[in-house]
Amino acid sequence: MSSRLRHLTTLEHLPRETIERLLDRAESMREGCAHGTRKLDMLSGRTILNLFFEPSTRTRTSFELAARRLSADVINFDIGFSSTSKGEALFDTLHTLEAMHLDAIVVRHKVSGTPEELVRHAMSGVSVINAGDGNRAHPTQGLLDVLTIRQHRPDFKQLTVVICGDVKHSRVARSDVHALKAMGVKEIRLCSPRALMPEESEFPGCVITDDFDAAIEGADVVIMLRLQKERMAVTDLPDEAAYFQRYGLDNPRLARAAKGALVMHPGPLNRGIEIAPEVADGPQSRILEQVGNGVFVRMAVLAEVLGR
Ligand code: NCD
Repeated sequence: MSSRLRHLTTLEHLPRETIERLLDRAESMREGCAHGTRKLDMLSGRTILNLFFEPSTRTRTSFELAARRLSADVINFDIGFSSTSKGEALFDTLHTLEAMHLDAIVVRHKVSGTPEELVRHAMSGVSVINAGDGNRAHPTQGLLDVLTIRQHRPDFKQLTVVICGDVKHSRVARSDVHALKAMGVKEIRLCSPRALMPEESEFPGCVITDDFDAAIEGADVVIMLRLQKERMAVTDLPDEAAYFQRYGLDNPRLARAAKGALVMHPGPLNRGIEIAPEVADGPQSRILEQVGNGVFVRMAVLAEVLGR
């Protein structure tokens, strides 16, 4: 058995068995919930800090709910953070908060690598969970995405997955690729306009293209990404109508994918920009299932890192 995780900062290099252990645990939390067990006392007496330096509604709420369902105490610390000397302010905050005897810190920060910095500086005994850093990683999103896929298409080696949108700025795309590769999918296609394309060297083994109509052909899973206006230089911005025409997921385009293909999106959605409302709300959409699975995955991760 792979050893228990103390922190979760990225899915990169995590073995399949660790990912599956987390998915299995999330699944059993989900089953428990379906049978009426909403709350477990697994983490009673433990304190978890949500330290969010970027705005977030769904991820923060999801972590908070997960912690509460395991009976942990939760503190939310939302900081609109714009200082350039991130270092000192960040670690000052960390040590101040640590003095309050925390067990885990859930962190989101616009600077890639912040969670690892916290791991290096945190007092021993404090676990760090990454809730999204820069464009680098969003491991719980990657896990909830593969959990959602597994519930419908458990045979990963048969799957072709297309991820379309602003791949260059997307930590979700990166964590999804790490998780999907670990699970052994057949093919991953990354599709975006040239200006939003990542370096090929960052995604070895993935097909990279700017032709969505070709990329979606026969795909079993279609993951749409939000156009992240706040993370791109203004000059990169394609005109929204033109973007939807080439990269938006509407019904005619979805018809090119495999029959019954799963439609996913990490949220928040820009309706009419990357996804048509009738697809987001349509029968193939798994978007709300992703949200539901997010809570169970985060419960599983908290239980893993804080388990005794
Ligand atoms: C994602 C994020 O913040 O990285 N959203 C999320 O976690 N719910 C994706 C995004 O912002 O587009």
